[in-house]
Amino acid sequence: MFGFLKGKQKTLTGMDIGSSVVKCLRLDLSQDRPLITHFAMVDLAPEAIVDGEIMDRELVIRALQDCAEQAGVGKEPVATAVSGRAVIVKKIVMDKMSEDDAREAIFWEAEQHVPFDIDDITLDFQILDDDIGAGQMEILLVAAKKDMVQTQAELIRDAGFSPMVIEVASFANQNAWEYVQDGRNGEALADAESDGVPEVDEFDPDAGESEETEPPEPEEDSEFVALLDVGGGVTNVHIVKDGVPYFTRDLPIGSSQFMEEFQKQLGLTWETSAAVARGNTDEVDSELVTDIVRSVGEEIFQGLEPSLAYLKNSGEAEGIDRIVLSGGGARLPGLAAFLAECYGVPSEVADPLAGLDYETGVFGSEDPEQLSPMLTVSVGLAMRKGVER
Ligand SMILES: Nc1ncnc2c1ncn2[C@@H]1O[C@H](COP(=O)(O)OP(=O)(O)OP(=O)(O)O)[C@@H](O)[C@H]1O
Ligand SMILES: [Mg+2]
Repeated sequence: MFGFLKGKQKTLTGMDIGSSVVKCLRLDLSQDRPLITHFAMVDLAPEAIVDGEIMDRELVIRALQDCAEQAGVGKEPVATAVSGRAVIVKKIVMDKMSEDDAREAIFWEAEQHVPFDIDDITLDFQILDDDIGAGQMEILLVAAKKDMVQTQAELIRDAGFSPMVIEVASFANQNAWEYVQDGRNGEALADAESDGVPEVDEFDPDAGESEETEPPEPEEDSEFVALLDVGGGVTNVHIVKDGVPYFTRDLPIGSSQFMEEFQKQLGLTWETSAAVARGNTDEVDSELVTDIVRSVGEEIFQGLEPSLAYLKNSGEAEGIDRIVLSGGGARLPGLAAFLAECYGVPSEVADPLAGLDYETGVFGSEDPEQLSPMLTVSVGLAMRKGVER
């Protein structure tokens, strides 16, 4: 259709501002399989972002700039994410009406469902089922705190970049996972912009013409999948089915809690603890490590319970069918197996690189296979939309 754009490169840079590690990744989206052309990651001091909140803005800005410089990325439009705590995802029922009317009515509806002042939130929604009987329809409501979105946009601007897309980290994670899952390569890329995952806000020069987003066709064997992103300080739980997020929630347990226990109980240095957290148990008693992982992992299990109870009570599902671990803690020895055992369902470690190509050497000395689960958010962000060059 857009023949005149042929030959132009379509790229986007995703910047994942993790509380432990900032990642910067540029995808060339003009290939059949997206190609990672630029990448870098930079450690962030623990005091810079605490409990998901930016405490030291200057440190974060410097980390973003360092990361972009190391990746070889210029001062360009970027996609970035706000953490799950800023967002509420809820399925609600409202009177049947057109999408345009719903866009107006949603504010009144949201007031009953969102525990924030309506003036303080950015809303998005998607009609999941336009006729559930009795003149009602089912919609997915996504509400994000405006100030979080605005603060993020300002941060990106102050670092010298332009915020083209700002979305929720857990949705970016979902986006990356679905892309690999679909395995549709070029085709999936076209869908990536309208796959049922709403963006909280978007700084898009073409904004104004709203894109119709059709709910995905339900598949018979569709599963409830718990995407668990075990980051530095938090674990984001994001439960999805057929491309629709059912809820998203942050649990206050991340890989640093595991590492602290390795240090305390096994007398390890921080460096060795970090190596163990990445799955390297050569220098330690792996049984003891697994025991610690199980006891700290128990907190993730317990933390998940209220979310799963909600799924059951709302009659949505009996439980989850699959667990997918991502983030730097995904390879904690025995964690995937422990959670699989807890729920009696299969678990796997996310591998967003499986659906992508990457240029040789783009990850420097890092092993791509090892790195892959940490890249779900940056990959999911970079897939959002291309910028023509
Ligand atoms: N190759 C690696 N390089 C650096 N850290 C790694 C690596 N592999 C695993 N880790 C661990 O992953 C942790 C960071 O994970 P991740 O990047 O998912 O967190 P984050 O996104 O910064 O945090 P959050 O999502 O909680 O804000 C580090 O604390 C480190 O222990
Ligand atoms: Mg993260």
